[in-house]
Amino acid sequence: MSFVTKVLRRGLTTSALRMAAIKHVTVIGGGQMGVGIAQVAAQTGHQVTVVDQSEEILAHSKLSIERSLSRVAKKKFGEDLKAAESYSKSALSSISLSTDALAAVTKTDLVIEAIIENLQVKQELFSQLDKVAPQETIFASNTSSLPISDIAISTDRRDRFAGLHFFNPVPVMKLVEVVQISEQSDATFQSLMDFSKSLGKVPVVCKDTPGFIVNRLLVPYMMEAIRLVERGDASARDIDTAMKLGAGYPMGPFELADYVGLDVTKFIIDGWHEKFPNNPLFEPSPLLDQKVAQGKLGTKKGEGFYPYGKK
Ligand code: CAA
Repeated sequence: MSFVTKVLRRGLTTSALRMAAIKHVTVIGGGQMGVGIAQVAAQTGHQVTVVDQSEEILAHSKLSIERSLSRVAKKKFGEDLKAAESYSKSALSSISLSTDALAAVTKTDLVIEAIIENLQVKQELFSQLDKVAPQETIFASNTSSLPISDIAISTDRRDRFAGLHFFNPVPVMKLVEVVQISEQSDATFQSLMDFSKSLGKVPVVCKDTPGFIVNRLLVPYMMEAIRLVERGDASARDIDTAMKLGAGYPMGPFELADYVGLDVTKFIIDGWHEKFPNNPLFEPSPLLDQKVAQGKLGTKKGEGFYPYGKK
């Protein structure tokens, strides 16, 4: 882009290029991340539709939102049970559930995809949504590790496409990574920065590079912790204690890996290793592979590096 065009675009950002505020959000995927995003959007005055494949999954999503909302309400209102209940009720009433993604996006300002980490599945989804969503609707992916530009290529709205990466647990973690791609318009970027702030989050801007900012640092860190154990240099328990007490982290790397999911961690590192085989930071780990093969996927399965009791 020429200097003049850049200056012109920047100048227009605050006027003609500025989009209307995002009022309605469609979250595709009613899993842990999707429900967290939906909940926070509803809590902050947005209308939200959560889409997933079956009524059964959506019933589970609704239950998770109710549980988490009551924790947030308790924190906000303490012993004032009436105020807490009314807060939760009001947020819940802003959320609708649907199994029909195409119908859900016909009247929405923003689509946030939080489905399975599979590039082809994401591309197919966005390609279909692109045909029915309004022209001005912005598309965003909450992917942890796939390139945003590879997902956006399935649509004809690359100027209105971004990564919008939230952190688990979404109601607690303050950060949102707003990921730019080269075709993204200034208006789209600004709109997502404003939206993230309206959620009460702190947005940071990221290039479309592996892991953006947080996962680029966090995933190699967790992998090196696993390699420490593989080399017999320290135990998982001692490494966790060391990082909590010596570096001030709220969880040690093994607690965090269990919390994120060992399957998710393996998926990320395998994908990066395949793309960048010579980068030693992205080396897979036999111990992690073994845990995943044994179905020990972390807290969600009741066991990962640690046992958590039956789920
Ligand atoms: N919904 C609502 N509130 C929640 C919640 C949820 N799902 N989970 C925790 N909370 C609230 C609790 O109610 C509690 O509130 P109070 O302070 O009012 O009591 C507060 O958060 C702390 O929770 P807990 O007391 O249960 O436990 P804790 O103090 O050990 O904190 C934690 C839990 C917030 C998860 C903390 O351990 C932590 O910050 N861990 C690190 C998490 C992290 O690094 N996340 C990023 C993962 S990477 C990622 O998500 C990106 C990716 O792509 C893989």
